[in-house]
Amino acid sequence: MNTNWRLANWEERADLYDLFVEDRTRDIAFYTGFANETGGPVLEVGCGSGRILLPIAARGHQGVGVDFSNKMLDRFRRRLSREDDVVASRIKLLCQDIAATPLEKDTFSLVFFAFGMLGFLIEEGEAARAVSNAARSLKPGGTLIVERRNRFADRYHTAREFDWIKKWPEKSATVCQSHTDLIVDSTRQIRQTLYFYEGIDSAGQHFAFQQVLYFREFSSLEIEELLRSAGLQVTNYFGDYDRRPFAPDQPRIIVVAQKVD
Ligand SMILES: C[S@@+](CC[C@H](N)C(=O)[O-])C[C@H]1O[C@@H](n2cnc3c(N)ncnc32)[C@H](O)[C@@H]1O
Repeated sequence: MNTNWRLANWEERADLYDLFVEDRTRDIAFYTGFANETGGPVLEVGCGSGRILLPIAARGHQGVGVDFSNKMLDRFRRRLSREDDVVASRIKLLCQDIAATPLEKDTFSLVFFAFGMLGFLIEEGEAARAVSNAARSLKPGGTLIVERRNRFADRYHTAREFDWIKKWPEKSATVCQSHTDLIVDSTRQIRQTLYFYEGIDSAGQHFAFQQVLYFREFSSLEIEELLRSAGLQVTNYFGDYDRRPFAPDQPRIIVVAQKVD
């Protein structure tokens, strides 16, 4: 499978990524809470710059982060270099494509696909390979969590969180983000999101550029099917990070499954 162009999309997003996610904190508490319940080691699929996995390690758990983008992992490494040595030593980073390279078998107590990670696996069979790889890496009795924004409830929950103006300290700039979504393959539920950036740097120079990502939608039933096909048993559905029950109008689809002993 050639994932080069999708990798390029992520390499391009790395510089802005931490700014993009700086307001997201509720999911950190959610995954840290699960890690405290299951214990480690914990695997995050598509760990990016370490926004979630680092706080989990700070709570005393061993963690492995998998990501196919070295530029995203470089941000994580930079963050680790500023951390306490004991916390940093709990984390191992693997640069690989989750759908292509097998992980160590029967190793993790908790594995998760956070912040819509599954939706980046847009090719036919790719999400199934990734979930099956992740499931194989779970210890017997271990927990796997897959989470997506509930696009089917978007008429209730708009995506205004993706339109903003922020200070961009790394570039001494102020930057404005807006976005637009386009369905590019309705049969396979694939959408293109274009992000537009425009701003002014410290020298007063204007800049503008755009970036693109592709997402595939998965309904709760499709996610359940992926988990079952990987030999897991679905144990819980949540509709948001506060663990409220899932219902079609809730903002997130969070499916929890277990590898039965
Ligand atoms: C939305 S970011 C999430 C990062 C982090 N989990 C967070 O919540 O901040 C998705 C991450 O998945 C990575 N990714 C996308 N496709 C991947 C693949 N096939 N294998 C491994 N990583 C992948 C991207 O490089 C990116 O860092």
